[in-house]
Amino acid sequence: MSHTKAIILAAGFGTRMKSKKPKVIHELAGKPLVACVIDAAKKAGVEEICVVVGHGSEMVKAAIGEDVTYVMQEEQLGTGHAVKMADDFIDDEGRTLVLFGDTPLITSETLKALLDVTEKNNNSVTVLSTMVDNPTGYGRIIRREELFYKSVEHKDATDEERLVCEINSGMYCFESAALKGALGRLTNDNSQGEYYLPDVLPLIQAEGGRVEAFITENSDEILGINNRVQLAEAQKIIQKRINETHMMNGVTIINPEQTYISMDAVIGSDVVIYPNTFIEGKSAVGDESIIGPNSRLVDSSIGEGTTVEQSTVLESTVGNETSVGPYAYIRPNSTIGDHIKIGDFVEVKNATIGDGTKISHLTYVGDADVGKKVNFGCGTITVNYDGQKKFRTTVEDEAFIGCNSNLVAPVTVHHRAYTAAGSTITEDVPGESLAIARSRQTIIEDWVKKNRKK
Ligand code: UD1
Ligand code: MG
Repeated sequence: MSHTKAIILAAGFGTRMKSKKPKVIHELAGKPLVACVIDAAKKAGVEEICVVVGHGSEMVKAAIGEDVTYVMQEEQLGTGHAVKMADDFIDDEGRTLVLFGDTPLITSETLKALLDVTEKNNNSVTVLSTMVDNPTGYGRIIRREELFYKSVEHKDATDEERLVCEINSGMYCFESAALKGALGRLTNDNSQGEYYLPDVLPLIQAEGGRVEAFITENSDEILGINNRVQLAEAQKIIQKRINETHMMNGVTIINPEQTYISMDAVIGSDVVIYPNTFIEGKSAVGDESIIGPNSRLVDSSIGEGTTVEQSTVLESTVGNETSVGPYAYIRPNSTIGDHIKIGDFVEVKNATIGDGTKISHLTYVGDADVGKKVNFGCGTITVNYDGQKKFRTTVEDEAFIGCNSNLVAPVTVHHRAYTAAGSTITEDVPGESLAIARSRQTIIEDWVKKNRKK
């Protein structure tokens, strides 16, 4: 197939979102709307992408990044005008897709079909269309003897034309040369005084180019986001799509309607996901793990056969056959190994935890390096902060930390050492020794008899 580029229009503000930020960077399953469109284009084989920006361009660029070309449309004079801004990007040969930054549900499969039909039928342009029950607001595809005749905007349409249920999706595949030529001849002679991109279609036809309206049955993919109700509708559709893909790949999702998985998440087979679980960002879950209920993973990797129950894991790694929760909080930059128990009300932050270690209850492990087969008693605190600086705690392999202990960093508990319950450890504990750092118990006999009246 010949060289394919794409122009994505994203210059409008999206007033109906009632937002401080431009519409196209609002997120769907954790991804900016315009980035969803870029992903679909890339997956369909598009080699170069140009995004037309205008309102909030700095925010849009920051959300998208550097691997696309940007052109600026200072004034929003219409979709045709927006494409004109990208004139230098359009080649004299090959194909150019034109897409909208606010139609994020478009799939690479449909874009491929659009490219294929353009190629196969030798079209100068193919406009993607679909049939809907309620076409109000959309441009209508008007046919004559079944062939494409024109695309008319709702506002400019006659009553008869408004009855047509085939709508213009706003997405096209152009023969680049035909697009370039027609843009030069485009006028703004219509009720809105705008340069309408659909008006290039009759211009191309007048020059003898072949124009086809290609109907997709997936009208879901055409949904444009103009307000937050539509954003929620799209979220529901994308969530269903994502969850169904995982289920078809061997993931059990107990209640898909209450399970939120990002577009970039990777989930192994025989994983079970309980309701009210959020798997966000670039997260991964290994085979046979159990996640949820009520759990949240953000940019985290979970190994195989691991359980995460009623817990939050942020920007961290958890190994195999490990159990997290219920009610654990794993904060960024933690690396938790295999066969580990992180129990209830345990918080771990910026720490490494070696294989076979048990941190079963009510414990804070922050800025710490913990070895293998360590046992933390209930209620241990790594005291990492002196009000100004953070310090690290080291606990070596097979050490045993008694209940209700403070490990005041910087401090090291060496190999197989024990600390007595209730100790505040401020100095290093040598290997295989016991540190006791608490006052001795005193018994005052008959204290009650002497001090209490009958
Ligand atoms: C457009 C189509 C209509 C189609 C519908 C599908 C035109 C004239 N109409 O209408 O046929 O049925 O989409 O959703 O093309 N934009 C710019 N610069 C501009 C104007 C728009 O970048 O000057 C961008 C917007 O940010 C948006 C996209 O183009 O992402 C579509 O613009 P919008 O105003 O929403 O067009 P519609 O009225 O929905
Ligand atoms: Mg629109």
